[in-house]
Amino acid sequence: SVRRRLVIGNWKMNGSKAENQQLLSDLVKLQNTAASGEEAAELAVCAPFPYLQQVADILKDSAIGWGGQDASEHASGAYTGEVSVAMLAEFGCAWAIVGHSERRAYHGESSDVVARKAAAAIAGGITPVVCVGETQAEREAGNTLQVISSQLEPVLALGADAVAKMVLAYEPVWAIGTGLTASPEQAQEVHAHIRGLLVQAGAPEQRILYGGSVKAANAASLFAKEDIDGALVGGASLVATDFQGIASA
Ligand code: G3H
Repeated sequence: SVRRRLVIGNWKMNGSKAENQQLLSDLVKLQNTAASGEEAAELAVCAPFPYLQQVADILKDSAIGWGGQDASEHASGAYTGEVSVAMLAEFGCAWAIVGHSERRAYHGESSDVVARKAAAAIAGGITPVVCVGETQAEREAGNTLQVISSQLEPVLALGADAVAKMVLAYEPVWAIGTGLTASPEQAQEVHAHIRGLLVQAGAPEQRILYGGSVKAANAASLFAKEDIDGALVGGASLVATDFQGIASA
C-alpha cells in the first residue's frame, strides 16, 4: 500500500511530569536507534492537555509528533473546561483525537458533534483522528457495519476536501482496554467497509487505524491486512518498549 503506517499513542488520563519525562526520553532514544525512512511508521502521542508543553519540549527535535485527545468545536468563548484547536496548535500539536468512544459514552458526544470537532480541527490546521466503533451488543445484534456507517455519515458529509485531511480510527468498544483484540479478519472486515465509504466520499487513500488492545505481539498480524494502516494505542503506549515494538511491527 502507498499509505504510510501511522501509530498514535493515546495516553488517556494517565501520566505525571516525572513519568512523562521518563517515557518520552525513552521513546526518543528508541526512535533514534529504530529503522527510519519510507518504511518506518509515523509516530505520535496524544497527551493530557496540561502536559502538552512538556511533550513539545521533549519531542520538538524528534521525528515523533504529538496531539490532544479532544478539541472543541468552538473557536473561543464561554465553554468552561474546553480546549480550542488554536490552543492545541500553539503547543505544536499536529493531531487531535475526536469522537473517542470514551468521549461518546461519558460525555454524550454525538456523531454530529464529532463531525463539527473534526471540521474545526481541519480549519485550524490540525489533523483529526476520528474514532468510530460498535459496542459488544451492537456486534452481537449484527449491526456493526450499520453503526459504523451512521457514525461516519456526518463526518464524510463534510466533503472530499475535508475528508482528505483526516485519519479515521476503528475502535470496537468491546476491545478497548479489555485485552480482547478484534481478530485481524474482524478488523479488516470493518476497515474494508470504511474504505468503501472513503472511496464514495472521494478520499480513498485516507489512513484507517485500528484501536483496541493493540500490543507488540498482535500488531504485525493486524498491519498485514490490506486496509489496516496503523494503530491507535492506549495501554501499550504508556510503556516505551511496547509502543516502539508496535511501531516497528
Ligand atoms: O485510543 C485507544 C484505544 O481506546 C485503545 O485502548 O489499547 O488500552 O485497548 P487500549
